[in-house]
Amino acid sequence: MSIVTPTDAQIERAIRILRSGGLVAFPTETVYGLGADASNAAAVARIFEAKGRPASHPLIVHLSGAHALPDWARDVPEIALRLAERFWPGPLTMILARAPGVLQAVTGGQDSIGLRVPSHPVAMALLQGFGGGIAAPSANRFGRVSATTAQHVRDELGERVDLILDGGACPVGIESTIVDLTSGNPVLLRPGRITAQEIEAALQMSMGRANAASPRASGTLAAHYAPRVPLRLVSGGTLDAAVREAAARQPVAVLARHPRPTYSNATVWMVAPLDALEYARLLYAGLRQLDASGCGLILVEALPDTPDWAAVRDRLARAAAGSASGAAPVDRGP
Ligand code: TXA
Ligand code: MG
Repeated sequence: MSIVTPTDAQIERAIRILRSGGLVAFPTETVYGLGADASNAAAVARIFEAKGRPASHPLIVHLSGAHALPDWARDVPEIALRLAERFWPGPLTMILARAPGVLQAVTGGQDSIGLRVPSHPVAMALLQGFGGGIAAPSANRFGRVSATTAQHVRDELGERVDLILDGGACPVGIESTIVDLTSGNPVLLRPGRITAQEIEAALQMSMGRANAASPRASGTLAAHYAPRVPLRLVSGGTLDAAVREAAARQPVAVLARHPRPTYSNATVWMVAPLDALEYARLLYAGLRQLDASGCGLILVEALPDTPDWAAVRDRLARAAAGSASGAAPVDRGP
């Protein structure tokens, strides 16, 4: 495995690796993806092995443009074309009925498929050169924090990946919005940079709610995106008291929205950006840093209950659920 600058020659090399069934990690605007040829069953199997991901969890197939939709999806509804027109290339994944011939391993045995056209220039160059679909989950071990730099990918996957294209830090920082379009009204399965309100506005339709019949999404497990150290969310007003109390027993790392009070006994005090997009961009790198700080507990100041914070609130709530149990992620339903 090597980390390389994505020159034309290295992108050619990445394409050769994909064509021969290998794994290439590449930057997208959201997070790094762990890519394989979506039409090669052995290559797709290697993704699951590298991530330690259960076979029932479907992968997103990345495409170079909406023109490729008919190769992967059938009965594509008109609302999908409208969302593609409005948000692709970009951080939106659509769940559609899968086309005949799509590998079962890609869809986790479901009749639907997740599709996305990423806007990152390196991802786009790779997709255009490769020609086909690239199956790519986030480039992290299952249940862990997604990778937003090439170094994170190396830390997570090491020799399990054949090549890492280094496109710098991902500008969005959290995974794409996932919208299910298989049942008439759109259903939000995972919040992201593109908000539910933006999708509703683009379609002039209100969003349905996920229910038992909605497709499964592992990013919607109650426990996911978790650091190794336990993480707890604490409201701003009680943060200082919670830190004082916990730090009496163990070293505590804090992700706060205000500067460290001079009297605080926290070991690490990280001040997060006040802007929601900036917070999202830095979130996973911040969590990794706190996770590696040698602390026994991470306390995170809770975020405003407004739509612009929905995606980061979602990731932090799952990180808290994931680390509280200290066990494998548990599906607690939608
Ligand atoms: O931003 C992103 O979406 C990144 C970059 C690399 O594109 N990818 C990503 O992939 O986050 P992954 O595998 O970590 O998360 C994809 C989510 C999973 O929760 C999976 O269950 C869901 O998408 N998903 C994929 N196909 C699906 C389907 N057919 N039905 C329901 N959920 C699906
Ligand atoms: Mg993931």
